[in-house]
Amino acid sequence: MATTLFDLSGKVAVVSGAAQGMGRAMALALAEAGADLMLVDRNLAGAEATRAAIAGMGRRAEASDCDVSSPEAVRALFARIDGEFGRIDFLGNVAGEAVMAPPETIALADVEQVWRNLVLGRFCACQEAGRRMLAAGGGSIVNIGSLASITALGRGHIAYSMAMGAVAQMTRELSTEWAAGGVRVNAILPAQVLNPGLEQRIAAWPPLEQQFLSGIPAGRLGHPDDIKGLAVLLASDASRWITGALIPMDGGNLAMNAGGSVRHEGKRV
Ligand SMILES: NC(=O)c1ccc[n+]([C@@H]2O[C@H](COP(=O)([O-])OP(=O)(O)OC[C@H]3O[C@@H](n4cnc5c(N)ncnc54)[C@H](O)[C@@H]3O)[C@@H](O)[C@H]2O)c1
Repeated sequence: MATTLFDLSGKVAVVSGAAQGMGRAMALALAEAGADLMLVDRNLAGAEATRAAIAGMGRRAEASDCDVSSPEAVRALFARIDGEFGRIDFLGNVAGEAVMAPPETIALADVEQVWRNLVLGRFCACQEAGRRMLAAGGGSIVNIGSLASITALGRGHIAYSMAMGAVAQMTRELSTEWAAGGVRVNAILPAQVLNPGLEQRIAAWPPLEQQFLSGIPAGRLGHPDDIKGLAVLLASDASRWITGALIPMDGGNLAMNAGGSVRHEGKRV
């Protein structure tokens, strides 16, 4: 029964940010569950490497260098999906990046760039996928948000946080509008998941890692593969009554009050 419940055979999934990190892990997990994939990343060489890995599993995959912050490019991407796959069952809006600077000095152009990438880009892809899913009678969309969707991070995250807050509301509004049409829209809110950018920031200031860990009761940073189970769950019929959810993937971070603590040197203090 479990096999059928999570089976994605015959389904077509579109995943952005598929060259590395959580986008690549999500794409591989969906392919392992049987889906064919359109892999999107402005790093085409990286997307091609993911495509080759998926082709090795016997699944069909195509790669696109679409820049998701460009609505024209996103529309062209979906026209290509129409031609090459003729359907879309799942959209994973994973691609994204932050420009970090203090709120009192950040350039408005940087605020706008982050908004274009995370908000306009995710919304335009939701709109294109949603139109097609509504016409077909169903589908599932997952937007990657962040702890910054519902809490403040400080450390120069103002533009990123404002955008990720909008991703949370985008998810709730779309789930409300589209649930009756069979289209589910959920968000995953990760805590710190190791990626090259995070590794550079920790290398530049090593105490940052302990700062992160002090907020994660599970005692470790995230790994991109941590998204695999949620990705398959949310893409499959196993989650057919789950929509509008903002799901933490955070080792317990959001559950813990700022004054709470993990054990200190093995003891409760
Ligand atoms: N890593 C974390 O700690 C963390 C935590 C919370 C949320 N997030 C969010 O999760 C998502 C994935 O994070 P990750 O750590 O896997 O990222 P990553 O930096 O490892 O990979 C991001 C990928 O997105 C691609 N990309 C960025 N902007 C793009 C654009 N405009 N068009 C097309 N491709 C683009 C990049 O080329 C890259 O391959 C991002 O949206 C990020 O903001 C990450």
